[in-house]
Amino acid sequence: MPPTDPDRSPSPPAVAVDRLEVDRGGRPVLSGLSTTVPAGTVTGILGPSGSGKTTLIRSIVGTQKIKSGTVTVLGEPAGSKRLRRSVAYVTQDASIYPDLSVRSNVSYFAALYGRNRAAAMAAIESVGMGEFAGRLAGNLSGGQKTRTSLACALVCEPEVLVLDEPTVGLDPVIRDELWGRFRDLASAGKTLLVSSHVMDEAERCDRLLLLREGVFIADDTPGDLRAATGTDNLEAAFLHLIRELQKAG
Ligand SMILES: Nc1ncnc2c1ncn2[C@@H]1O[C@H](COP(=O)(O)OP(=O)(O)OP(=O)(O)O)[C@@H](O)[C@H]1O
Ligand SMILES: [Mg+2]
Repeated sequence: MPPTDPDRSPSPPAVAVDRLEVDRGGRPVLSGLSTTVPAGTVTGILGPSGSGKTTLIRSIVGTQKIKSGTVTVLGEPAGSKRLRRSVAYVTQDASIYPDLSVRSNVSYFAALYGRNRAAAMAAIESVGMGEFAGRLAGNLSGGQKTRTSLACALVCEPEVLVLDEPTVGLDPVIRDELWGRFRDLASAGKTLLVSSHVMDEAERCDRLLLLREGVFIADDTPGDLRAATGTDNLEAAFLHLIRELQKAG
């Protein structure tokens, strides 16, 4: 038998969304979304406020009631028990214990995932929170809370890491470092889904899902998106797509 060529047998996608429909408050919020996210990549979920980014993310991590369609993560239905240890989710509002220190918050997650104290400290350092490790989480600024929440997710070393606007309120240096960390994780085979409002962050993704009013208006690489719209930056590409849609009625 000829040897199997690894290039010809692509691994199954980390996330597969098929004709996903979600209603919230009795109104359609996601209207038939389909996409696949390859493992070992950073995928950006972009779109204006209210376009459905968080709802899509909730559907992927299995906390959203869906109306129809399917969402599959690492070959399992989204939200299934077997995914508990392999999928980490950082919500838009930092979710940490206010009455515990930064170190205790991250160590708690480390212990749950069988990671040691050194791993907890490394995660804290990686989000620039080393000097605040002893501080009560309840006494942190908004950006510091977000970073602590991120450290809790990073220490789990999940296969799939889903981050809802993780860089809001962070300064440019820490944002840059975090994107570097996301890239390192993807290079190590992890899959990251990151929502953002910020177009310069979109440039750092392997693929982009552009959402508008619950519909994908693009599912492409940054380079192909720029080429397809004849623009030299993603902000212009996004505006171009929206204007084309408006013209088409
Ligand atoms: N609990 C809810 N009940 C009813 N409607 C909701 C609920 N949560 C969100 N929605 C609606 O669903 C739509 C999509 O919301 P979603 O939170 O997914 O948007 P988003 O793209 O994440 O926005 P943002 O950038 O502001 O976080 C919006 O129209 C919103 O008003
Ligand atoms: Mg949101």
